[in-house]
Amino acid sequence: MTQILVINFGSQVVHLITRRIRELGVSSEIKPFDVSAAEIRRLKPKGIILSGGPSSVYERDSPQLGKKILSLGIPVLGICYGLQLIGKYYGKVLPGKLKEYGKKSLNVKKQGRLLKGLNEKEQIWMSHGDLVSKLPNDFEILGSTDNCKIAAMENNDKRLYGVQFHPEVAHTLEGKHILKNFVFGICKAKKDWFISDLKNKLVQEIRNTVKDDYVIMGVSGGVDSTVASFLIHEAIKDRIYCVFIDHGLIRKNEAEEVKLAFKKIKFKHLYFVDASKIFLQRLGKIADPEDKRKIIAKTFIEVFEDKVLELERKNPKIRFLGQGTIYPDRIETAQPSKQADRIKSHHNVALPKKMKLKVVEPLREFYKDEVRELGKELKIPKEIVFRHPFPGPGLAIRILGEVTEERLEILRNADFMFIEELKKSCYYNKTWQAFAALIPVKAVGVKGDARSYEYVIALRAVTSKDAMTADWARLPQELLENISSRILNEVKGVSRVLYDISQKPPATIEYE
Ligand code: XMP
Repeated sequence: MTQILVINFGSQVVHLITRRIRELGVSSEIKPFDVSAAEIRRLKPKGIILSGGPSSVYERDSPQLGKKILSLGIPVLGICYGLQLIGKYYGKVLPGKLKEYGKKSLNVKKQGRLLKGLNEKEQIWMSHGDLVSKLPNDFEILGSTDNCKIAAMENNDKRLYGVQFHPEVAHTLEGKHILKNFVFGICKAKKDWFISDLKNKLVQEIRNTVKDDYVIMGVSGGVDSTVASFLIHEAIKDRIYCVFIDHGLIRKNEAEEVKLAFKKIKFKHLYFVDASKIFLQRLGKIADPEDKRKIIAKTFIEVFEDKVLELERKNPKIRFLGQGTIYPDRIETAQPSKQADRIKSHHNVALPKKMKLKVVEPLREFYKDEVRELGKELKIPKEIVFRHPFPGPGLAIRILGEVTEERLEILRNADFMFIEELKKSCYYNKTWQAFAALIPVKAVGVKGDARSYEYVIALRAVTSKDAMTADWARLPQELLENISSRILNEVKGVSRVLYDISQKPPATIEYE
């Protein structure tokens, strides 16, 4: 049973609403805007949230809400477009003179039940053109901004509430507090969203989907594909075939670590394909980052497909392709970053149309932190659950320009030392991502009594919440000194170590 039903009117951040509610420990689910009042009655939610959306409520084809839903006696919170729908039924909505976008200040006039516990002024995040221009009968205004008189309103008799701003985004500093007021104070929901229940639910769903068939899945040793494959394994045991493709662009000891982790759980069908030669051969002298990505993606498909065909010949009951896709991988238009596309295209890599496999993606609704929680629940080794993200094209995009065996060897060793020192000093878990990159220019140094002329290694360590923005990690000087001297002394072929202090934006996390 879902306690808080979120009705989607096309908001790019609708999943953030369910995510925030789940963070409060309460189950929440999204339904499309044309969900009927009868279905809602059947679902018996404790509360309903109407999401934002890009349309104007007075436009002819804009998504509408059945008015009946507002009179079911279930508390309703309208957010942005959702507020305007309530406004349209009970008052009036007009285009605003000024569009409001970004951080604003909310003047709290009355706390009511929705804004209970908030200060007189609160930072909120707005994104709208239209406004509720006439206060619906029997509603009270709780808060306003300079350009928006009805920024928050409520009617406790009708149990209708609305905010023009977005409480689900982090820039609304007390957004979670407002949602908490709604979920617990107004809807009287109870905590029911526990990760162990979630695991059982997902396992059951996989069983229902896959039935007696078999699943094949590409695993990388990253947290998403590992958690997804462990979930599938829990559901159908030895009917999952995992394939790890070593494209030769992985880190030092990576293949061994992955083997070890999967061995621990006794996966029966685990296949390692060493395809490093073909990848390196095809990369040849290519230096352009996007060309490198394309070659790697294309080769990956070919190698994976060959393995799938080989295994299908042995077992024709392989009918599903398991994927570790998580929710942010699926956002198509919401992300202003070019990386969203790249990550997506990489994820699609494992889905060649020819294979005609059905897809099973148990993590498609989840965020990274939820996936990590699930990983802990599945008793996956900590080293994997808290592993930093690693890009699909691997070290190829951390060697600027041409990828060669020599450069890979140097980079692997430098990166290994950097990560080893970060782990020893407990800074690994304080950073979102950390790695070494090889800058293919040579700088002069002295080693012993001789003059050296060798590569430059850049160290990158960043803090971030979701990789959309990132800041360089303030690592202690002594730690940096230690890392630098180890790399310079122990890694052959390096004469300089630099620490990258670029923020994203304008820089990116990776170098290419
Ligand atoms: P940037 O460099 O855009 O990276 O700041 C943001 C996040 O995405 C990862 N990344 C990739 N992941 N294939 C992937 O699977 C790629 O081509 C790719 N490029 C960047 C990056 O490691 C960071 O976590």
